[in-house]
Amino acid sequence: MHHTPLHVAAAEAVAARAGVAASDLKVETPKPELGDVAVGCFAIAKAQGKNPAAIATEIATSFTPNAWLASATAAGPYVNFRANRAGIFQWLVDKALADKLVPQIGDGRTVCIDYSSPNISKHLAYHHIRSTVIGHALAQMLRELGYRVIGINHLGDWGTTHGMLIAAWNLWGEVSPLDVTALNDLYVKFREAMKTEPALEEKGRQWFKRLEDGDPEARALWTRFRDISLGEFEAVYERLGIKFDEVRGESAYEPDLPRVMKELRAKGLVEESEGAQVVQLEGEKTPILLEKNDGATLYATRDFAAAQYRFHTYHFARSLYVVDRGQSLHFRQLFKLLVKAGEDWASRCQHVPFGLVRFAGKKTSTRGGNVVLLRDVLDEAEADVKAKIAEVNPDMAPDTLASVARTVGTGAVMWANLLAQRDKDMDFDWNRVVALDGDTGPYVQYSHARCASILRKAGATPALADIDWTALSHDAEWAVARRLLEFPEMILRAAVGDSDNIDLAKPAACEPHIMCHYLLALAGDFSRWYTAGNGDATLRVLVDDPRLRSARLALVMGVQAVLRTGLRSLGIGAPDQM
Ligand code: ARG
Repeated sequence: MHHTPLHVAAAEAVAARAGVAASDLKVETPKPELGDVAVGCFAIAKAQGKNPAAIATEIATSFTPNAWLASATAAGPYVNFRANRAGIFQWLVDKALADKLVPQIGDGRTVCIDYSSPNISKHLAYHHIRSTVIGHALAQMLRELGYRVIGINHLGDWGTTHGMLIAAWNLWGEVSPLDVTALNDLYVKFREAMKTEPALEEKGRQWFKRLEDGDPEARALWTRFRDISLGEFEAVYERLGIKFDEVRGESAYEPDLPRVMKELRAKGLVEESEGAQVVQLEGEKTPILLEKNDGATLYATRDFAAAQYRFHTYHFARSLYVVDRGQSLHFRQLFKLLVKAGEDWASRCQHVPFGLVRFAGKKTSTRGGNVVLLRDVLDEAEADVKAKIAEVNPDMAPDTLASVARTVGTGAVMWANLLAQRDKDMDFDWNRVVALDGDTGPYVQYSHARCASILRKAGATPALADIDWTALSHDAEWAVARRLLEFPEMILRAAVGDSDNIDLAKPAACEPHIMCHYLLALAGDFSRWYTAGNGDATLRVLVDDPRLRSARLALVMGVQAVLRTGLRSLGIGAPDQM
């Protein structure tokens, strides 16, 4: 059931005459020959103890046209309305071109989104892309809706592993070039060596202790490794068009931890269990672990401090954590701990879990061991797409081809991660990801490029003020308009759920795949419309009749604008040619 502005207008037209709330009425889409939108009168009949057909007749006869609705007829218990199609075409194209179709529900309220958040000195492996891509799409959609979004990269840059890495570097020294691959190898080698030489573990612990105590040598190495990692990560983020508002790793919370422990102890929450400091939580078999028996604090403690920091810094209306499903227990415990500690904003925190990525079809290079590197996937996608575009469009200039292939290759990989339902595992099927048709990102991008190419071919774009919208009388055109009308609701559903949900009533939906499916449907309706012109020349966009041609071109402009906004809301670019 959709609540497009047309559906709302129909419900309101009936409600106004029947003394019921518009939201209590059932609005449907009737068969095209009957009308454009229908309202059932059952609820009213029940409330008034009358016959629904009689009520439908009454309402239809007293109907007066408005901006959305042109006429009404009764059909049994329904009032069938014809839409004011010309008015709606005009409204849609005006709004779409002014980028004003997205409902501004955010009202400047703040949403924090923790996403990507990889561990330093390790590869930004392929499984990190799902967090990166989903988190970025959520950030983009919420920004479109008028929220103030703080995108946060909560780097894993603290803990005993960083002591081990320093110990490894001291053992085996400088490797050239010292990049993430080299750091990763050093760490793997150290873990291997630990198996036969248990004393190494103690070495690693000592180095971490020195790091915690601010020892300059330890600190300098750690900083160096962190900078190397961040540099490589940033190259990938830049390729994806991602800029974080805050890059703040776990290490940043180290100074807060004594205070956190003191606060939790003062509240009487902390107890000792097998030498560790823990808090018992309602409904959880295992307590949350805050401090190990050697006094070292843990991931959870740093997350607790980070949650407080985010609230006090940004006063968020919501705080989202886009992290794989494997960490569900961690976040459930963290949020329960916040409640127990008396943080009344704890209910604003939400884990946004996602499933695993499995690789099928094509093998991807695995230079860094058996992880699939995001960088390599992007390179291959770009190369594949480049070859495909060069084939269908051999005349494209090399520079253009390179930049289009970059947008489309990156977009294809991002799209594949968004299209699959978030909480399901997904198969990364290479051939499906980079195909130019089917339910792929390139297909939607291609539809956008197609709009642009029609407009290029037309030469001058029509002046919107002069358009005779009544010229658009074909059902295929109306089908496109109906789809465009759904856009405001779809972005709302994909990001937050529905309009009741903007004030934290329920968890936010966080389902970018809803936007993907919407854009595929729009691309499909658009394609049905313009390919109709292949069989019937009178249906072409670029017909001779200037009145018809201008109106159709304007509709193409509207489609193009919504495709562009929709793709942008997912973090994906919209090329003008392909
Ligand atoms: N660094 C962690 C990992 O790679 C993810 C961190 C997620 N964010 C958080 N606030 N815990 O598994």
